[in-house]
Amino acid sequence: MIAIDPVQNTERDNYKLLIGSIIPRPIAFVTTLSGDGVLNGAPFSFFNIVSSNPPMISLSIQHAGGRHKDTARNILHNKEFVVHIVDRQNVGQINITAAPLPPEHSEIALAGMTPADSLLIKVPGVAEAKVRMECVLEHYVELPNNDLLIGKVVQFHINEDILEQGRIDPAKLEAVSRLAGNDYAGIGDIFTIERPV
Ligand SMILES: Cc1cc2nc3c(=O)[nH]c(=O)nc-3n(C[C@H](O)[C@H](O)[C@H](O)COP(=O)(O)O)c2cc1C
Repeated sequence: MIAIDPVQNTERDNYKLLIGSIIPRPIAFVTTLSGDGVLNGAPFSFFNIVSSNPPMISLSIQHAGGRHKDTARNILHNKEFVVHIVDRQNVGQINITAAPLPPEHSEIALAGMTPADSLLIKVPGVAEAKVRMECVLEHYVELPNNDLLIGKVVQFHINEDILEQGRIDPAKLEAVSRLAGNDYAGIGDIFTIERPV
């Protein structure tokens, strides 16, 4: 084993160690609205569940050039966003939305995605996802170079075709995850281990 002190490492090398080790990472495609009403969309893999009661998710968004990314700025401004699960069918379009566009341009339009109205929040989602969650910002933690955002899910939208007796079938969801660099992974082997009683 090699012992590595993160303090002696470059920021880039620490980033590469983290994104190479913590795999596979689920990917949230997040839509937000700018102050001018532009529908913004971008993918984030520093994403997970933080609570199921109430349902809450986390996103961590790095600063770009010392400033908030558009997604973080919009969420901090109007406290609402929609999280979509990235899957085999939408990952190509979602990759297009990761382009660093100026705030007045919509990545959703660029990628040819279809806005879908939300029920409880003003921010629309997109139709190109089998799962989407309307979220409201509950907690904001300002980290040195990151915005950590915790949102409460106030509404789920699930495509009925992926449901089996009210549960999501992973083979039908076909979620994809992020590895390092430009690499992604599908769901591989699924195996079962009984928990000890
Ligand atoms: C699959 C994927 C995952 C990403 N994950 C993150 C992430 O977790 N945090 C982050 O700050 N940027 C992440 N990015 C980069 C952002 O999507 C990118 O900076 C985007 O342009 C931000 O858009 P915005 O400025 O409209 O918010 C990821 C990009 C891709 C393609």
